[in-house]
Amino acid sequence: MLEGHTGPVNGVAFLSDGTPVTAGYDGTIRAWPEGTSRALARYAAPQNALIATVDGLASAGADGTLHLLSEDGRDRATVEAGIGPLVALASDGNRLAVAALSGTVLIIDTATAQAITAINTGETALWTLGFTDDGTTLITGGSARAPRRWDVATGRALGPIGTVPAPAAAQADRGAQLFRACAICHATGADSASRAGPSLAHLFGRAPASLPDYPYSDALRRLSAPWTRDSVAQLFEIGPQRFAPGTKMPEQRLADPDDRAALMDYLERATK
Ligand code: HEC
Repeated sequence: MLEGHTGPVNGVAFLSDGTPVTAGYDGTIRAWPEGTSRALARYAAPQNALIATVDGLASAGADGTLHLLSEDGRDRATVEAGIGPLVALASDGNRLAVAALSGTVLIIDTATAQAITAINTGETALWTLGFTDDGTTLITGGSARAPRRWDVATGRALGPIGTVPAPAAAQADRGAQLFRACAICHATGADSASRAGPSLAHLFGRAPASLPDYPYSDALRRLSAPWTRDSVAQLFEIGPQRFAPGTKMPEQRLADPDDRAALMDYLERATK
């Protein structure tokens, strides 16, 4: 029996030498060498999940922040990985997947801490996820009541495992739900600051890469036609990397035309 946390223990992993480590509701990461206990790190928010990575540990916070830390507790990087609580982590070695309760998944390169792919599952809640052995597919478990598969490289939905029961009720606002995946990186309000991505306020009719205070890539600066419903929909139909090769926006697609239309409806309202 190991004692030390002042609240529930939410995650357990092992360091490379076999020492157990835990993450707690009290915001601490503790190591347990031979039955003793030592705090490796203390964070402001409760920590919901913990996993060992190739170069240390990753801990998922209830404040949407993912902490990458070394085995001795030094902070390697923090990533704003979701809106609201992060609830689950999976690693396939070089990459880390982090699920937010609100239904989004970010796949991150553990060496650089950069987002590679963003997935919006569209589910009202996510609880768990894992990579398949070959690392090409991610499986998520959440409110859809059947596990679902996703292409790790593109974020595209590959379909459920087994059958999904028909949804109980039509989604109240599909567009708003889809935008949750974007909201990790983009704000929409007129006075809102840029996050990891530029603010999308007044998006339609705006020239690409035109916010003066945002460090755009050359790939985006090369675009000239102002953003329209059609071009933003196309951006996510073919994926940012085909639309503007070299863009900093992680690869993500919306395969369903109805989903794209719902997202554009939402953007029209929210970015006005
Ligand atoms: C993980 C972060 C991230 C996510 C998630 C994300 N974006 Fe982006 N987005 C970016 C970054 C970074 C850029 C700037 C790209 C560049 O400079 O190459 C960008 C650029 C854009 C632009 C061009 C803006 C301009 O000023 O020209 C649009 C439009 C856009 N994103 C829409 C979306 C939408 C809609 C979603 C959700 C379906 C989304 N993004 C999801 C990071 C993200």
